[in-house]
Amino acid sequence: MNTAASYLRVTLFMTVAYLLLEYTLAPGEEIVVIKYPIVWAVLGMLFLLAIAVEIISASLKSILWRGLDEAGQARYLKAEAERKEKRFGWIKRVYKKLAGGRPMEEEGEIILDHNYDGIKELDNTLPPWWVYGFYATIIFAAIYLARYHIFDGTTQTEEYEIEMNEARLAIEEYKKTAKDLVDVNTVELLTDAADLSAGKAIFNTSCVACHKADGGGGIGPNLTDEYWILGGGIKNVFNTIMEGGRDGKGMVSWKSELKPSEIAQVSSYLLTFQGTTPAEPKDPEGEIWVDPEAEVVPAEETNEVVVDSTAASITMNN
Ligand code: HEC
Repeated sequence: MNTAASYLRVTLFMTVAYLLLEYTLAPGEEIVVIKYPIVWAVLGMLFLLAIAVEIISASLKSILWRGLDEAGQARYLKAEAERKEKRFGWIKRVYKKLAGGRPMEEEGEIILDHNYDGIKELDNTLPPWWVYGFYATIIFAAIYLARYHIFDGTTQTEEYEIEMNEARLAIEEYKKTAKDLVDVNTVELLTDAADLSAGKAIFNTSCVACHKADGGGGIGPNLTDEYWILGGGIKNVFNTIMEGGRDGKGMVSWKSELKPSEIAQVSSYLLTFQGTTPAEPKDPEGEIWVDPEAEVVPAEETNEVVVDSTAASITMNN
């Protein structure tokens, strides 16, 4: 019995079975055995089945073999050898055709009469596989030239640009769905009307009880003035709402109630109160907050400095 062939057949069978299951049950990204663990059982059954078939056919063969007399066995072996020859015969023929060359017996006809210290040279023609490959490159080059240099196909640079654009769009798309990735370091003041009205809705349900609808303050401090206990600006406000105020003051952490994106919205909304005049403003608490990132123009250096790079000189205009 030919065990190598059996292993090969079983492996091939299992691969085909797996691929079929994969493409029929779970096309796309997912892996079928992860999506449906039951497939393991199916594959196991198929494996046992394949082995059983191999064993049965092998034992049938050996029973038949033993039933034959010597002449019969010889005839069988001969038929088997012929079958093999036929099976792989065409491969050999194709190989011979592609490799070209003369058989060893005919070498005398193509030997050149140089003799380099006993090394002789055969004047073989180029192997057909090489020649055909060469013609193929010529045809390819002609088509390539026409496609990209005469008929204006997309060049590599353009292809690169197209793919980069696609990637940029994909990133934008991802960011839209991943708004909740914002944290205190990346949060930015939102100005979209949709974000602000969402922020307003959150403020009006969760925060008015202590801060009033117009931000004038009650239990909580006034949010319309420039005085802040815990720091103004989007980052500090975001942080206050996320983590809560000082212990025992009544401002709790909202991170279990609100998503980061919602905290960014309500923060942005309540910052629109800045500079408005509420109906019953609470007295300022805390300190005036100045944005450290705001551009500061130093009072003394208001002279305009003009750098003329071509003349490589610096002129001061007073
Ligand atoms: C139970 C009352 C209460 C509720 C409800 C409440 N707050 Fe407060 N809030 C306070 C108090 C009290 C403080 C002052 C905390 C401190 O002194 O540490 C405060 C402080 C703040 C501050 C910082 C003000 C500063 O001067 O630094 C912000 C911003 C704020 N709250 C926003 C909100 C938002 C947004 C909500 C709704 C999601 C909310 N608060 C809900 C009571 C409340």
